[in-house]
Amino acid sequence: MKDKFDIAVIGLGVMGANMTLNLAERGFSVVAFDINIERCDDLVNRHKSLTGKEIVTVTDLSELLLQLDSPRRIILSVPAGVIVDSICQDLLSAGLLEDDIVVDTGNSQWRDSIKRGEQYTGKFNFFTCAISGGEVGARFGPSLMASGDKIAWDILKPMWQAISAKIDPVTGVEIARTQVNQPLPEGEPCADYIGPLGAGHFVKMVHNGIEYADMQMIAETVHFMRKILNMSVAEVGAVFDQWNKGKLQSYLIEITGNILKVVDPRTKQPLLDLIMDQASQKGTGNWTAREALELGVPANAIAESVFARCLSTQKAVRLVGAELLSGPKLNKEDKKYWIDKLEDALYCSKICSYAQGFELFSAAEKEHNWTLDYVAIANIWRGGCVIRAYFLDDIAKAYQAEPQLANLMFAQRFNQTLASNQLAWREVLAKAIMQGIPMPASSAAMSYYDSYREADSSANLIQAMRDYFGGHTYRRKDCDANQSFHYDWHFGGGEQAVKH
Ligand code: 6PG
Repeated sequence: MKDKFDIAVIGLGVMGANMTLNLAERGFSVVAFDINIERCDDLVNRHKSLTGKEIVTVTDLSELLLQLDSPRRIILSVPAGVIVDSICQDLLSAGLLEDDIVVDTGNSQWRDSIKRGEQYTGKFNFFTCAISGGEVGARFGPSLMASGDKIAWDILKPMWQAISAKIDPVTGVEIARTQVNQPLPEGEPCADYIGPLGAGHFVKMVHNGIEYADMQMIAETVHFMRKILNMSVAEVGAVFDQWNKGKLQSYLIEITGNILKVVDPRTKQPLLDLIMDQASQKGTGNWTAREALELGVPANAIAESVFARCLSTQKAVRLVGAELLSGPKLNKEDKKYWIDKLEDALYCSKICSYAQGFELFSAAEKEHNWTLDYVAIANIWRGGCVIRAYFLDDIAKAYQAEPQLANLMFAQRFNQTLASNQLAWREVLAKAIMQGIPMPASSAAMSYYDSYREADSSANLIQAMRDYFGGHTYRRKDCDANQSFHYDWHFGGGEQAVKH
């Protein structure tokens, strides 16, 4: 047996401890570090019951470095932000070498990853691997988005691909494993190299933006069913179980069905009805929306999902609004008529929010000179991550068939679905508006779709107004695109060509 370890994990919180067990189960030798002895002891016990062997844990970084094979491979599983910097500094002081690889797996800001790469060049190999899938994913197979130096990727790839979620190559569906007594799955790994530093965390950020939109649109749909269709929580849960067998099949639809079944043991009411209607956020959705503004990408469904969370936290103000602001009288509708339409509507809105995510990739590629492989990204999101869904297999196929797609909605398989489902989608949103039930993300998705259908938009008037009050000029549809004009709106002097 080798006397040095393959890899180290620093930070034995939920993600770090579970990733350590995942690595151990796949046959890699891991040395683990945490300053919290209780966390170390807990991991030792879990590892022993899993493998029958002791795991080495240390609380000193110099000791950790001595235990590792060269080049050293170290996973950081610590909260994003300054802790990453301080541990990197501590590792340097402890004797980290130029070829050693340190992998940040937190939800770091992608710009921070670029800065860290520059800061540590020549000191050690700073690498990142964004991870999605929460506790169960870390333990049994997450989705992994790696970025940084290609040489580091070649070294890490076998480990990353081993511990990631796996997809059945025939069905395109994840071979799920959620318990130790299930066999280790083999299949297409949900781990891939995304690009240079920054790119991996950008992709993870967009994943989270889409996650926000998916969750918001599901919540809006449930709200429609409860408020307009007067359905019980259990009835809605049964619909979601059904939907999880169809085109909406996904982790978030599945867990919604599960959540809706839980009854509070104290009050015997559905637990959902007792959970405060205020949604928190750690920041990645907000980053995605800000990035969209920065890059000029109309990711309105994602942004509306962030705003919806912001508004949700203003419970006190909403209580005042509920008293003061009038709405229409609610008419109860026939649920049989609406359930299938809601499924079609949610699917259409979902296509639009993913189109927005991929549009962000395309803008970022131009801005940062990255080359992102959309097929690979869709493929690694098919399993392990929070937005995992069979739908991602369709996205991968769409980009495979038409790599130059200007927008995901234009793919044949999606534009046909949007065309055939749009009436149901419009009916649902019109009904929600007439009944006064907010569906901000789903409505934004429809505006996105309708805006992209417009060969002639209303922006000519915006441009005319800009020229009117600010002399900002305009271009004409009947002249060369490089030629600008100003019209003398105030004094009747007519139009003048403007030289640049
Ligand atoms: C994942 C999740 C994970 C986490 C979010 C929650 O991919 O595993 O996205 O990153 O659950 O950060 O984010 P909010 O607190 O902002 O909802």
